[in-house]
Amino acid sequence: MVKRFTSYADFKYRLGIRLRHIYYHNLYSHLYPAYTMRMIKQLPREWELIRLPLTTRRTPTNIFIETTNRCNLKCIMCSRSHFDHVLGSMDMTTFLKLKPLFARAKMVHMHGCGEPLFNKHFLEMVRTVKNEGSQVNFNSNFTLLNQEMARELIDLQVDSITVSLDGATEETYAAIRRGAHLDQVIHNIQLMNEEKKKQRSTKPHMGVEFVAMKRNIHELSAVIRLIKQYDMEWIDVFHVIIFGESLKDETLFLYPGIMRRAFEEARQAAAENGIRCTLPSENPTTFIHEWEPGNDQSEQLSNLVRDMEHTFSSDKVCFEPWRTIYVQWNGDIFPCCYWSRNMGNLSSSSFLDIWNNAEYKDLRQCISTGNLPDNCQNCPMLQEKRLVQLKYEKQNGGLRAVRDKIVCSQY
Ligand SMILES: C[S@@+](CC[C@H](N)C(=O)[O-])C[C@H]1O[C@@H](n2cnc3c(N)ncnc32)[C@H](O)[C@@H]1O
Ligand code: SF4
Ligand code: SF4
Repeated sequence: MVKRFTSYADFKYRLGIRLRHIYYHNLYSHLYPAYTMRMIKQLPREWELIRLPLTTRRTPTNIFIETTNRCNLKCIMCSRSHFDHVLGSMDMTTFLKLKPLFARAKMVHMHGCGEPLFNKHFLEMVRTVKNEGSQVNFNSNFTLLNQEMARELIDLQVDSITVSLDGATEETYAAIRRGAHLDQVIHNIQLMNEEKKKQRSTKPHMGVEFVAMKRNIHELSAVIRLIKQYDMEWIDVFHVIIFGESLKDETLFLYPGIMRRAFEEARQAAAENGIRCTLPSENPTTFIHEWEPGNDQSEQLSNLVRDMEHTFSSDKVCFEPWRTIYVQWNGDIFPCCYWSRNMGNLSSSSFLDIWNNAEYKDLRQCISTGNLPDNCQNCPMLQEKRLVQLKYEKQNGGLRAVRDKIVCSQY
């Protein structure tokens, strides 16, 4: 039976007992594995009283800026190819409204749904962020780089660049990244490497993002070998998000055997080549956005969607509305890149007013009380509450894992 706390004093008293148990359990866990399991199962009870604040003056540490949503390519899986976006690039006036946030930010990611090198103010924006002391990273299709830009990105000491590489052969790559050629991107990676050598700089660190689909998964290990060949450091693999009909057969959740084998080979190739490799979950998380399979379409796909809708998520939590923002080119603010309604716009309100407005309070309230909004159900950013708590108790040595530490270390 789940015991409720009668008061805050009761909570503190019982938390003290639990933390002492955890302390002794740390000493004796090798002797009593069953006790370890019981302790882990009981952890969510304390979470009931851990309340994240609804308003905060701590500005986000993780900032995504869509410097533009224009692009020179038309990739088959990109949302730009499926929806009619109003196109535009962020101007310096909107960008400078974000300047006060950069000093506290740990990382400013300077891309959104478009090609960042397309914005003519891009280098000036990077300079502004770096001058405020934050780290900068961005994803790019890397087709627009030239020598002058490469030099400047190194001078500015951009921390990392993630190149999108969804194939290891021209045939696969060019069929996905319509308008680009593999040799053009490889040439630009080499250009950046040469300039880094000339300037004796380790920055920008370079890695790859690979969007896993049925049509390219057989080349994943070969992409890892290309990464090694061209002196890059990591690969982040993401499942394709289906934005429309033409992608309906591409999700690997429909081919679990193929997915498992490819991920296993990728782990092996990464280990052999010394490449950091992050693979996505093998269990279905959100993989469809603003598109639904009709009755006449793949039964398997409809079943997957139905099963996901029944996954219960109230034991899960997400910290994005406390630590992240996603800013669209026109100044619209979102709590993350998975949320579909904007929380306000920088042209009509100050950032701090938006950050603590009714929409934000509502979202934070829903998440901290476990009533996840529809938009959040099955989101890949959700974490198991008890694993979050366990992690922080372990990191803080059990007894010192007090409420504020667990909560505040998240943002
Ligand atoms: C939208 S792009 C913007 C940056 C840049 N234009 C690029 O392609 O790298 C950001 C990342 O999203 C990935 N992406 C595009 N469409 C996707 C989809 N349907 N599902 C998952 N990731 C996707 C791209 O491969 C890229 O690595
Ligand atoms: S290059 Fe990036 S923004 Fe452009 S279409 Fe491809 S994925 Fe989308
Ligand atoms: S759960 Fe997902 S959609 Fe909801 S706030 Fe977190 S990241 Fe955004």
